[in-house]
Amino acid sequence: MNSPNYNLSLPGRIGLGTAGIGGSAERHDQEVAAVKFALDFGYRMIDTAEIYGDGAGGAERIIGSALKAFGAARRSELFIISKVWPDNATRAGTVKACEASIERLGCKYLDLYLIHWRGPHAFAETLRGFDELLERKLVRNIGVSNFDIDDMKEWRREERRLGVRGTAKANETSYRLDRRGNEYGQFVWQRAHGFQPIAYCPLGQGELTRHPLLMELGRKRGVTAAQIALAWCLREPDVIVIPKSANPQRIEENFRAADVRLSAEELHQIDQVFPLRHRWLKGNPLLRHARSAVRRLVRSVKKPASRTIHTSPYGNI
Ligand SMILES: NC(=O)c1ccc[n+]([C@@H]2O[C@H](COP(=O)([O-])OP(=O)(O)OC[C@H]3O[C@@H](n4cnc5c(N)ncnc54)[C@H](OP(=O)(O)O)[C@@H]3O)[C@@H](O)[C@H]2O)c1
Repeated sequence: MNSPNYNLSLPGRIGLGTAGIGGSAERHDQEVAAVKFALDFGYRMIDTAEIYGDGAGGAERIIGSALKAFGAARRSELFIISKVWPDNATRAGTVKACEASIERLGCKYLDLYLIHWRGPHAFAETLRGFDELLERKLVRNIGVSNFDIDDMKEWRREERRLGVRGTAKANETSYRLDRRGNEYGQFVWQRAHGFQPIAYCPLGQGELTRHPLLMELGRKRGVTAAQIALAWCLREPDVIVIPKSANPQRIEENFRAADVRLSAEELHQIDQVFPLRHRWLKGNPLLRHARSAVRRLVRSVKKPASRTIHTSPYGNI
């Protein structure tokens, strides 16, 4: 398959995740050094959010310090993603949240600004905020996160209705060996409608790095289980991954996964252990509608209520 062009000018396919950094004063210096190490090593994409760290921009502050040490003059080499917390995603709240993120990051503009997940405010509100940010050139691109196909359709309808200047170019969702749900039609839909897939939790929050099969496959090739897990995500030609690590050795290891190409035999072995269940349903619209209905139900029952909650209706954020 030829990779679709999402017009995002991404600097590579592996970025640094930052959930969990910026929450502890003791780890501050070590975390700044880790992010700086990643930049020096070659990472050019960083994923963060106003909520990461202490729930009030802690991760963005850490990244801001690392960016300063890396060199403000090199800003144009980087692709920085941040996200508005859904409770803040009114028109004015979105603008204010983005301004605060940019201030903490010290980076003048964001390359991609996402709504963290669908929350209590109408899409039109968030879109108007995004529109202002695009007009003021505080953000270069906008997108969404944790959206299913129905959410994305609704978002596109609102974009058309409002006639805003920029359309969403990405959807950041969980995609990992043991959660392959996006393969049931969502990636196909995103490709057809211009939403770059960004895969979060590609290491299963560390769990996959200890999986016996991945360790065994890695051992045979002289790579690690983490690299196998990342290479598996990257076998989808347009998926980008944002593994998090605050450990220099792992930061380096994860980045080198871009060089690992899994063979048909390795992919077959992986499929046996991490099967795409109900393969016959792949791309079936009925399944998609059923999944959307369940998610709508979950959303209505389990509404995130405040900034102190660090989990989204879709798990860890
Ligand atoms: N949009 C959303 O709603 C959303 C949700 C979740 C995550 N995200 C984004 O996606 C990023 C990645 O997801 P995640 O942080 O939840 O999980 P992840 O990247 O799948 O896993 C991170 C965990 O794995 C460990 N790890 C990293 N590299 C390793 C390696 N080579 N070997 C062994 N262990 C390793 C890390 O520990 P160390 O730090 O100690 O190395 C950390 O505990 C987040 O940081 C965030 O930027 C977005």
